[in-house]
Amino acid sequence: MLDIEEMKRRVAKYAADIIEDGQTVGVGSGSTSMLFLRYLSERVHRGELRDVRLVPTSSEVEYQSTILGVDKLVIQPWQTERIDIAVDGADEVDPRRNLVKGGGGALTGEKVVDYSAREFIVIVDETKLVDQLGSKVPIPVEVIPRFWRIVKLRIEELGGECSLRVLERGKRGPLITDNGNYLLDWRTLIKDDPKSVEVRLRSIPGVVESGIFSSEHVSRVLVCFKDGKLIELK
Ligand code: 5RP
Repeated sequence: MLDIEEMKRRVAKYAADIIEDGQTVGVGSGSTSMLFLRYLSERVHRGELRDVRLVPTSSEVEYQSTILGVDKLVIQPWQTERIDIAVDGADEVDPRRNLVKGGGGALTGEKVVDYSAREFIVIVDETKLVDQLGSKVPIPVEVIPRFWRIVKLRIEELGGECSLRVLERGKRGPLITDNGNYLLDWRTLIKDDPKSVEVRLRSIPGVVESGIFSSEHVSRVLVCFKDGKLIELK
């Protein structure tokens, strides 16, 4: 039986092997995406990929690409009009392939890149599969800092409870996203259609983006199971 790290490694490697030379690749954030970046970098160093461009979803990707020696391949989102493929992890995946993302706080950059890619591939281990979104993790919502308290109340009118994400170590205080915003963590079970909740959240003034990623933007979900099977969720 595989442990979580090995499941992440296998699905990340599988996705890295899908990438073709010449592609502009959106690179997701979080530990599974960093493994994807590592395997992709290895292919670059072996000379298998000579002409790929990497579009980062966060400062984590920019930093890791430097560590992995592929920072020269990184282009900023404003330097391209086309992203061929985006590969990203998720915190939860429901049976219809709706997602919760943003555990690592990078949800806005991820949504912009993932949604605009021609193909958006999600890579997860089996622990991320849930029947309903919100079962295991809160829904992250990025908000404009000075309005966080008002936005929190507006979100709670939809049900559930919201809390400001606060760091206990390093720089203490509210987590500040790559975009200079705060994050609210909304504990709730998504009973309605996730797409409608995504739209409702975005309609609240002060909300920048939410971690609900609706299935219409997802091309493929690849899952690695404990027994080593790697399947595509249909
Ligand atoms: C970061 C994300 C990640 O994709 C998500 O949190 C999954 O992370 P991991 O691969 O470490 O389990 O959305 O904002």
